Amino acid sequence: MSSIRLRLLKWLIAPILLINLAGGGLVYMLAWTPAQLAFDQSLAEAAASLGARLSDGGGQLQLDLPALAEAVLRSDDSDSLYFAVYDGAGRQIAGDRDLPLPAPGAASNGQQLYDGVRQQQAVRILVLPWSLPARADKAPASRARIVVARTLRQRQQIQQATLRALLLLEGLFAAASIGLVWFGVSNGLLPLQRLRTDLNRREGDQLAPLALADLPHELEPVVHAFNGLLEKVGAGAQARQQFLANVAHQLRTPLAGLKTQLEWLGARQSEAESAQSVQLMLATTERMIRQTNQLLALARAEPEHFEKTRLEPVALHSLIEQSVQLFVELASRKQIDLGFELQPLIVQGDRFLLRDLIDNLIDNAIRYTPPGGSVTVSCVPQAGQPGRSSGGMLVVEDSGPGIPPERREQVFSRFVRLDDRSSGSGLGLAIVRDIATVHGAECRIGDASTGQGARFSIIFP
Ligand SMILES: Nc1ncnc2c1ncn2[C@@H]1O[C@H](COP(=O)(O)OP(=O)(O)OP(=O)(O)O)[C@@H](O)[C@H]1O
Ligand SMILES: [Mg+2]
Repeated sequence: MSSIRLRLLKWLIAPILLINLAGGGLVYMLAWTPAQLAFDQSLAEAAASLGARLSDGGGQLQLDLPALAEAVLRSDDSDSLYFAVYDGAGRQIAGDRDLPLPAPGAASNGQQLYDGVRQQQAVRILVLPWSLPARADKAPASRARIVVARTLRQRQQIQQATLRALLLLEGLFAAASIGLVWFGVSNGLLPLQRLRTDLNRREGDQLAPLALADLPHELEPVVHAFNGLLEKVGAGAQARQQFLANVAHQLRTPLAGLKTQLEWLGARQSEAESAQSVQLMLATTERMIRQTNQLLALARAEPEHFEKTRLEPVALHSLIEQSVQLFVELASRKQIDLGFELQPLIVQGDRFLLRDLIDNLIDNAIRYTPPGGSVTVSCVPQAGQPGRSSGGMLVVEDSGPGIPPERREQVFSRFVRLDDRSSGSGLGLAIVRDIATVHGAECRIGDASTGQGARFSIIFP
């Protein structure tokens, strides 16, 4: 997965840490070198103080070091000091034994400084050539070599303390840099976050362009392109709605005309055969009209293409009353007792879609209930708030065959019909479910309260 944040962090933090590390090394060197020089300087001073005590006692080099002076020279809290003095012929005339001498072949005419080991202890060693004040005979006794060595304990302590302080500092600095970079990057990415929140909050039908105000100019081309896409999608949805409206208009009018003509022809037909054929044509036309209407209703109700802005307070009880009136004739032809029990119920909705929903439920109830049965449509608001737009329930109950529990989910699918004898498109309940969905309502199928028949409830939030 690629992440802008990770890329930025990688390209910022890694170099910062590297620079940090290099800086740390430099600081360490700067802090350590003077300390090293000071230590070496103190060794040189010790060697010089020994040199000052050298004398030429009758051709023999001598070191005049009283016990007290030696104690002062060697006194040190943490380290031990060793020394040795050699005469011009290389003989040791005073001091400690086994001091590591410079490698043979190393230049011996100047001062030498090196690290060595004496009795398993690391030591820093200084070799200082020394000459006594010049004498006329230039006896070899006038030249000497002073070797001074000091253990490294204090040096190492100071080195470690420096290193610890530096590491702590570097750690703090690195943590602060990472924190700052993280904060900076998060802050820099805020506009993207805002954009995401804006997009997440939208429903599928909210196609208004994204706001360009307050947007960093780096994002502007992206948002422009996205707005262009939104515009195209919006135009597509509008074209689709327009197409549906056109289809509805173009199909319904000629179909209605055809039906009227067939009815007229059927009424005038005296020959039995022709009359029957006209009746068949009439039935087919009616089915075609029904199916066209159902397909159009289905397309209208598709949740993806539904605009929430069309919702307004609708008096469901009046819609039911209008719908029932439409079915009275059909019900009486089938000797079905069509009744209603209505309480004022206002819901947020689209009146045309809700009318489709009610029509389909009542149509099903009358169509699938055998003659002599009964169909009751009722609506009740949620307890306690009659007449307010606060949700409620629409119920259509019949005394027909009912719907077996295991098929109650299935019947809401498109083109599903439980019984092939009836002429239907199998779209009615799919339309009902889609319309309920765009209203945020829930569809339930149960048994009629009398025990025989189906009970369809639409529960509005
Ligand atoms: N009230 C009911 N009682 C018994 N069966 C029903 C009832 N309502 C629907 N059905 C069954 O569910 C099936 C699906 O119903 P739906 O309304 O979706 O399609 P349809 O009625 O066959 O066709 P149309 O699209 O013309 O309404 C029906 O074919 C029928 O078998
Ligand atoms: Mg139906």
